[in-house]
Amino acid sequence: MCQAIVKLLQESNLGLDVVSYGELYTAKLANFDPSLIYFHGNNKLPIEISFALDYGPINFIVDNESELNLIIEICKQKKTTANIMFRVTPDIETQTHEYIKTGHKSSKFGLSPSQIKKLTPIIINNLNFLNYLGLHVHLGSQSTKLKPYIESVSVIAKLASELTAEFNLNTTKVNLGGGVGIKYNHKDSPIPLDKWAKALSTELVKTFTDRRLDLPQLILEPGRAIIGSAGVTLYTVGHIKKLDSGIEYVSVDGGLADNPRPAMYQAKYTAELANRIDDGQKIVSIVGKYCESGDILIKDIKLNAKTNDILVVYGTGAYNYSMSSNYNRTPRPACVLIQNGKPIEIIKAQTYEDLTRHDA
Ligand SMILES: Cc1ncc(COP(=O)(O)O)c(C=O)c1O
Repeated sequence: MCQAIVKLLQESNLGLDVVSYGELYTAKLANFDPSLIYFHGNNKLPIEISFALDYGPINFIVDNESELNLIIEICKQKKTTANIMFRVTPDIETQTHEYIKTGHKSSKFGLSPSQIKKLTPIIINNLNFLNYLGLHVHLGSQSTKLKPYIESVSVIAKLASELTAEFNLNTTKVNLGGGVGIKYNHKDSPIPLDKWAKALSTELVKTFTDRRLDLPQLILEPGRAIIGSAGVTLYTVGHIKKLDSGIEYVSVDGGLADNPRPAMYQAKYTAELANRIDDGQKIVSIVGKYCESGDILIKDIKLNAKTNDILVVYGTGAYNYSMSSNYNRTPRPACVLIQNGKPIEIIKAQTYEDLTRHDA
């Protein structure tokens, strides 16, 4: 998330998901069309809601009752109306790591269909301040199966039909989330994005038509499937050591702070040397430089690296820079876009002055 990426999204006629003031602020600096912004999150702060309402006709994906009441309160103060959709927890499990599942019953995101129905009187009593648009669902990330997505469409269609029949609330937008996996490793076989979109739109048309509902606008939120594979991280190989046990560690000049995903949820990556052909005849583990034993970027990979080689780790275009930190007081690296063969620095590397700027 940075201004250059927001501008690329705008040029590509794509929408934008945000979850924080910082992301809204960045979008605004880049002049992104607010009507194409979907504001997610389970704890939107008063200051964030207020900023979003001042920005323009943003779509709030309402997570819970308390948030709904807060939006109304702020809309009353500002004499304005918020566009809202509800985040539905469909109670559908996806086959992915526990920490990136979101559609299961105990998920911290969203509410069940019956809980959402209980909130409808609040909407009906506040039509001056709330404009109900529709329903949202997101099952989780790095999903490789279509079936759970298809099941989620039925849950949405049923709820939409009940909201129309019982409360006269028409669902004009259905947002079926994202989570389509990408190929991090040779073993991964992701669902092609076009196949996923076609299957979901076909199912939406079928379920809504069967229930005699008007067809809503379909919104999809593929995140990493758009940008994940477009990014790589370049490291310089530092010290290499072989333990008595035979394990060989190749250390690089980054790790946990620029890529917390392996430590957080055992994410797997693949890598190669970028500066020369590698005979890859040894099994080594690539480790970061941070003070955590869990700072292992890739365990057991065939690589014959030497100090000063350049290592390329693939599939780091999503969730890496955004999750990066300054752990161990390490500056964040630059982010470079390659367009038509030309490098453009879209985020500058942090300096040591940047790191100490807020020290009081
Ligand atoms: C609401 C929502 N939509 C879409 C996505 C995109 O997921 P992915 O990048 O796995 O496609 C996320 C990821 O966190 C999300 O929370």
